[in-house]
Amino acid sequence: MDDRELVLVLDFGSQFGQLIARRVRELNVFCMVVRHDITADRVRELGPRGMILSGGPASVYEPGAPKCDPGLFDLGVPVLGICYGMQLACQALGGVVRPAAHREYGRARLAVGRSDALFAGYPAESDVWMSHGDQVDAAGGDFVALAATDACLVAAVKHATRPVYGLQFHPEVSHTPHGGLLLANFLRDVCGCRMLWKMQTFIDRTVEAVRRTVGDKRVICGLSGGVDSAVCAALLVKAVGRQVACIYVDNGLMREGETEVVRHTFRDWFKADLHVVDAKDRFMDALAGVTDPQEKRRQIGRVFIDVFKSEALAIPDAHFLAQGTLYPDVIESGGSPDGPAATIKLHHNVGGLPKELGFSLVEPLRDLFKDEVRKLGSELGLPDEVVWRHPFPGPGLAVRCLGEVTPAKLATLRQADTIFLDELHKAGWYRRTAQAFAVLLPVQSVGVMGDGRTYEDTVALRCVQTDDFMTADWSHLPYELLGRVATRIINRVQGVNRVVYDVSSKPPATIEWE
Ligand code: XMP
Repeated sequence: MDDRELVLVLDFGSQFGQLIARRVRELNVFCMVVRHDITADRVRELGPRGMILSGGPASVYEPGAPKCDPGLFDLGVPVLGICYGMQLACQALGGVVRPAAHREYGRARLAVGRSDALFAGYPAESDVWMSHGDQVDAAGGDFVALAATDACLVAAVKHATRPVYGLQFHPEVSHTPHGGLLLANFLRDVCGCRMLWKMQTFIDRTVEAVRRTVGDKRVICGLSGGVDSAVCAALLVKAVGRQVACIYVDNGLMREGETEVVRHTFRDWFKADLHVVDAKDRFMDALAGVTDPQEKRRQIGRVFIDVFKSEALAIPDAHFLAQGTLYPDVIESGGSPDGPAATIKLHHNVGGLPKELGFSLVEPLRDLFKDEVRKLGSELGLPDEVVWRHPFPGPGLAVRCLGEVTPAKLATLRQADTIFLDELHKAGWYRRTAQAFAVLLPVQSVGVMGDGRTYEDTVALRCVQTDDFMTADWSHLPYELLGRVATRIINRVQGVNRVVYDVSSKPPATIEWE
């Protein structure tokens, strides 16, 4: 039974394109984001059950606006156009799109006017999220209006004879509380999906594919302590056991206890062939006297490649190198033949090891979103501590220890960071935030402790909410929690007499301080 029913999201430059794909996958249907000008022939080859045309910033009547192959509407494959996608579908099939009298941004009240499979079980009136300057005029022609808001008479449409639907609002965002039901109705009742795609299916297929690719050769898998590389390694170990050599470079810039967690998880629990390379001294030597953040990154990157390379090349019969590349990286780097073109996003993690190492790449996570990687990690038996770990930058604590990095400063930072994370965990806030850490500032200030005056270091706490790390807001942590963290750090961490909380958002600030 093939339960990989495929749905395509055609990307017209919406900020929500990936979100639509994630929502579809949450409904247990496999979904891929593809370029907006994918040809009808290619779509026929891929054989999707349905297509979703995303929103986008353009106006369909502007010259140069992104269009789709009109042949798509003749394939008989159901189409759901969202916002720009709806306008495009309507325009392609004879409807009229004009600038709206009133642009509509934000929450609106939707009234469903006509019963239809798409709106089965949907409340007669509910909130939806709008974001548009254009709208489909009167549905007219072959389109029938299904729902309206005050400002938009045609907020949902259906084609009279073809399986083509359009929604002017965004069902994929959480501000449309019943949006999931519309997507589910579309997938089940319009596309005829059975919605059986499960993580276990993914595991079985990937294990099978890895075994076929790798044969009896060995695979090198770098472990960084982060969730992606851990899940990648766990999946490979499941597929080919001790043919995988996991390499973990201890650069001395990791958080407290990180190396032990890696050792315990992979050596003791997964019985993997784990190579822990103690390179702390080499990294410290390379960082001596370096204060410029980019130079720190360069030095760390250079030493990492050297150390990793000599360890990897010493493993006999190694032909493959595994990388924990995720689907958003593939989409954003333009790395998929059917996918949209590269966006300008410059992700720190893309790049990695140089090609001249001569290994073939194995990227078993390249179809998955981050939340799916976590789910997969749990199913593979990785501990919560690993699965729910916040992301950590490759250069580690070096970019959180402002100015020159020394072992003494790292020790201070590590203690403060551990206290912060511990209090977040205890208060139930760790999982509610995207990234949290302490930063050691090269700023001394006066304090009083007991009878004496002190002149000691400052620790800044950073904690952010974000979905994509491209923009972020500072977390509104409770004052009591911040107070507890500050008191504990000042009382316990020698050399620190002041703690401050960073309330800057990104942009204009960045998440890291260096
Ligand atoms: P910024 O500071 O640019 O961080 O707002 C965005 C995300 O990227 C991480 N980050 C890095 N990750 N190497 C990495 O692997 C780096 O040099 C690096 N610098 C920042 C940061 O922790 C955040 O998650």
